[in-house]
Amino acid sequence: MKADYSDTNPALGALYAPHIETLAYRHDHALSRAGASHAVIYSGNPKVAFLDDYHLPFKPNPHFVSWAPLTSLPFSYIVYTPGKKPVLIYYQPHDYWHVVPGTPAGYWTAHFDIRIVHSIDEVAAHLPARDKCILIGEIDDKALAFDIDRINPTTAINILHYARGIKTAYEIEVMRLASYRGACGHRAAEAAFRAGASEFDIHRAYCKAVSLTEPELPYNNIVALNRHGAILHYTHLDREAPDESRSFLIDAGAQVHGYASDITRTYSFNDERFQALIDRMDAMQLAIVDRVRAGIDYRELHVENHRMLAEILVEAELATGGPDTLLETGVTAAFFPHGLGHLLGIQVHDVGGFMDSESGTTIDPPSGHPYLRLTRVLEEDMVLTIEPGLYVIDMLLEELRGTPAENHVNWNTVDWLRPFGGIRIEDNVRVMADGSQNLTREAFAAT
Ligand code: GLY
Ligand code: MN
Ligand code: MN
Repeated sequence: MKADYSDTNPALGALYAPHIETLAYRHDHALSRAGASHAVIYSGNPKVAFLDDYHLPFKPNPHFVSWAPLTSLPFSYIVYTPGKKPVLIYYQPHDYWHVVPGTPAGYWTAHFDIRIVHSIDEVAAHLPARDKCILIGEIDDKALAFDIDRINPTTAINILHYARGIKTAYEIEVMRLASYRGACGHRAAEAAFRAGASEFDIHRAYCKAVSLTEPELPYNNIVALNRHGAILHYTHLDREAPDESRSFLIDAGAQVHGYASDITRTYSFNDERFQALIDRMDAMQLAIVDRVRAGIDYRELHVENHRMLAEILVEAELATGGPDTLLETGVTAAFFPHGLGHLLGIQVHDVGGFMDSESGTTIDPPSGHPYLRLTRVLEEDMVLTIEPGLYVIDMLLEELRGTPAENHVNWNTVDWLRPFGGIRIEDNVRVMADGSQNLTREAFAAT
């Protein structure tokens, strides 16, 4: 497959109009509840490093990105008024120090009344009456609010965040492309691992294959050889290759038009026993994906996954006992201490995962599972991750000593597994009425 990530992709162009219609509908509702007439959405601005004069990488306001695929357009505003074409106040400064945003082009432009401004002072003339506006965005300099007092009102933000849990067809297509882009990087990373490369060089091979700079990645790559796979957020990148590469855990995504993929794979270099454990985890991950469908409570899926993991622990001789015992004594939680997954979208851990309703009420994770980031009942066109794991994290396993769990752990097998770090397999999955679409497996199949 040849993927078209460009802003002239005709498939995206065709899906963009209904996407904008959906956004308009959501904002109409949010404005009506907030008692306002206009939503002014600020793109954001780069932050300056403390006591320094250089800019940290620019992270755009996700609300702005949901309207337009403009991830590098600071100091700009979208003004949405129900029933009217949104106005885009497009900041194109006279600046010879930096690359200046070019002439607006692409499938999105026809949907905006674009007003190009060359200085911040010009913005005010394009804004409606301030007392009728709400402003959505991060304002760290009051002047950039242009006297709009109502900034990020909770009523409106809750409505928009809850709604963002459901992706439009446009968003699903962009995320399908992001999964494909990520899968290309994963292929290159696996090849570098098999060639004996260092973590740093594997990471470089990944970035080259996805053609993204580090700040353009949706999150910092986790490129972990051997025991490093057990450090859940390992982003260190050793410059030297280890004497022996036994295992490789890579959690790396890509973005297309501001939307993320979030993909993890684990490989054995040539150890058959570790490979067999990966295969077993892979089968379990697919079995969980198979249960994804509208109407399922994600919390139940997470707990069900613990039960399935308990069986694997027993089969692999890492533990003894029934699933109930291994859950209740905390054995499965010590081997798998993070959540089964989360919503995915513009943000990697996308907003709204705990929301019970658009009013902002929330659903707690099940007791004993504090790190679960998605507690909602699944709905059609949510996109989420399924990412079970199994690790040797000594800090957690040691906590089992002296408890009833201690005798359920086979510590000799733990010693065997420790040098391999751990296993995680993570796919990006679209919820459908009667099942799901696995964007990541489709992407790997197409690479
Ligand atoms: N890469 C972050 C996560 O999997 O949630
Ligand atoms: Mn991940
Ligand atoms: Mn994830």
